[in-house]
Amino acid sequence: MSLQAPRGTRDILAPDSARLRALVETFAGAAELAGYGQVVSPMFEQIEVFRRVGEATDIVSKEMYEFRDPGDRHLALRPELTASVARAFVQHRPPLPWKAWYEGPQFRYEKPQAGRFRQFNQVGAELFGSDDPQADVEVIALAWRFCTGLGLRELRLVVNSLGDRADREAYLAALAAYFERRADELSAQGRETLGRNPLRLLDSKRPEDLAVVAGAPVIDDCWSEAAADHFAAVLAGLESLGIPFQRNPRLVRGLDYYRRTAFELASDALDGAQDAVGGGGRYDGLVADLGGPEVPGVGFALGVDRLLLACDAEGSFPAPSGAADVFVVDVTGGGEATLLAEELRGAGIRVERAFDGRSMKAQMKAADRSGARWALLIGSDELAGGQVSLRRMRAHGATATGESVQRRIPRRDITAELACLLATEAAEGSTL
Ligand code: HAM
Repeated sequence: MSLQAPRGTRDILAPDSARLRALVETFAGAAELAGYGQVVSPMFEQIEVFRRVGEATDIVSKEMYEFRDPGDRHLALRPELTASVARAFVQHRPPLPWKAWYEGPQFRYEKPQAGRFRQFNQVGAELFGSDDPQADVEVIALAWRFCTGLGLRELRLVVNSLGDRADREAYLAALAAYFERRADELSAQGRETLGRNPLRLLDSKRPEDLAVVAGAPVIDDCWSEAAADHFAAVLAGLESLGIPFQRNPRLVRGLDYYRRTAFELASDALDGAQDAVGGGGRYDGLVADLGGPEVPGVGFALGVDRLLLACDAEGSFPAPSGAADVFVVDVTGGGEATLLAEELRGAGIRVERAFDGRSMKAQMKAADRSGARWALLIGSDELAGGQVSLRRMRAHGATATGESVQRRIPRRDITAELACLLATEAAEGSTL
């Protein structure tokens, strides 16, 4: 059998890879405008980093790629970055507030389907060292501004508060008591989830469970006054910025470290089962759980693959053009094309060329396919005369025969001439 990328992973080729990179660069720009600096952390960590933050979650208990390295260290490919970034914070203790953004692949052993992969990319941001509700508003606004800036319109921001640790525990107990009472109405899997973590039952999509979940207690009844005030301030902040949101009292998120604010961004342009393009919230207590001081934190991560699927569905954020500016057609053997291409690339011009001594006709076809706006032709006449012919490609406004826009230029002037032509086109935003 031929070798294939492992199930749940894929190769991303150009132009999709260029689009992915452009998305990450756009995110970097938005995050850095808001004072976040990039953190690059390892793709694998000691397994405890993740175990301590979510033993009761599927992401940690069932979906981690764990392994022992040849030195018998127990490691895991990161299933998410918040725990890694919190570990990095504990290790390096940067001055507070510490605002960090990141990007890169995450690994979860999930059942692959449209929009769900075993290796997927995230961009995200974390803010450590403030328990001000305005910090929550800042990170949500960053996620919102970035996503809407991509051209996404069918976005839904869903918010909730999970209260403080004690509130959350009280809620867990209330939920457990409620679900125990109605355990025989739950699905078999629902009963199994109940044994592990009653909060996870709120995410169940099985019809039997849904009916029971509909009557479950809501978190609001368990909030402390401080947690309730915090949430009210976050909602007021979102309103002041004109960011629309929906409250979902059953939004609990798939990781256990959340305290107070939790949120998700969903796209109505995506299939309902995998419509979450991102999520985040506050995780006061996480840094201490990892052996650091009591430093609060709040942040989010966005699924890059899903964001791009949502952009596809909404016809936004197209791949950047991979087209060459110039195609060098050399029918004198190919050596001249090498010299010219290097010279032009040195001047920042995107140049393509053909190999293998192909005919003029074949090279012109390749030039067409490359999307280049200009062709540089070198035949024996040009070579003998120390010249090159510059031709406007037909797809970019040449006449039917191309003749009227073909002219000879001294070989030594061509780089300056082309640089000038391309700069004028760029300034006019024209493709003439
Ligand atoms: P998460 O909700 O697990 O949160 O993941 C964030 C986003 O990553 C999801 O909304 C989704 O778009 C994308 N994602 C997750 N799993 C997959 C998958 N298997 N395939 C494709 N995309 C996926 C976190 O990871 C938290 N660390 C977010 C956070 C940051 N909370 C606070 N700070």
